[in-house]
Amino acid sequence: MGKAIFITGTGTEIGKTIVTSFLSLALQELGMKTKIFKPIQTGLAEESSSFADQYWYETVLEEETGSTGLYYMEPAVSPHLASQLTHTTIEPKLIKNKILEFKNQYDVVLVEGAGGLAVPLIENDHDFYMTKDLIQECELPTIIVSVAGLGAIHHTVTTVSYAEKHNIDIIGLIFNHFDQNNMIHVDNVRTIQKMLNLPILAKLSTLEQPSKDHLMQLVKKFLNNQELNNMLLGGLSIEV
Ligand SMILES: Nc1ncnc2c1ncn2[C@@H]1O[C@H](COP(=O)(O)OP(=O)(O)OP(=O)(O)O)[C@@H](O)[C@H]1O
Ligand SMILES: [Mg+2]
Repeated sequence: MGKAIFITGTGTEIGKTIVTSFLSLALQELGMKTKIFKPIQTGLAEESSSFADQYWYETVLEEETGSTGLYYMEPAVSPHLASQLTHTTIEPKLIKNKILEFKNQYDVVLVEGAGGLAVPLIENDHDFYMTKDLIQECELPTIIVSVAGLGAIHHTVTTVSYAEKHNIDIIGLIFNHFDQNNMIHVDNVRTIQKMLNLPILAKLSTLEQPSKDHLMQLVKKFLNNQELNNMLLGGLSIEV
């Protein structure tokens, strides 16, 4: 039985898909069978009429066609609203079963959330079923992605505080758009680590182009560095 990990972030458009892709390619390089799953996809890609993350995973990353998602809804809005607009009923049990099915077939299943932890997925009469409820229901250890620049401290600290309040098991943090020559970035990572005392699993620089080749170059550079390697694999509790 493989391991499933949830990838969330401090917000939308901060690089969850890029980080998920990086992790998948890195783990594949280390000989593991990985599966990327984005159960709830909303909004179409500018490049095509398919869903943005599905387009990226299946066209650029060459994941199996039609296998990266479960619920596809065109409006580029929060899932609870998209499901109302498209008359879609989201059933968390189906998502949980799909993750279990993938865990039986793959070493690592990377589950990308829509937006962040406090995103409503289903509107009930008196409350909302949130992303954090899905994570709890599926019992998934979670990685939090943040950008490294200005605003990272507040967004990361509040996201982690919300996760802890809801007993989510945080494996660690990954910083995106990290520039080691930028004093703010370096200090943000240091400050956040000191405040939260969570493992920093990786820091990804901005790619010249968001492509599979450029991601692979980053993966190779990363895997050549034993210290970085250990940080990531140790944090993920994955042995290779
Ligand atoms: N490290 C990076 N280098 C270059 N481009 C990046 C990087 N990280 C993210 N991007 C670009 O920024 C945009 C947003 O990134 P991404 O799609 O990974 O965010 P997301 O958090 O998954 O968004 P969503 O909430 O819509 O799923 C994309 O166009 C992506 O190609
Ligand atoms: Mg995404």
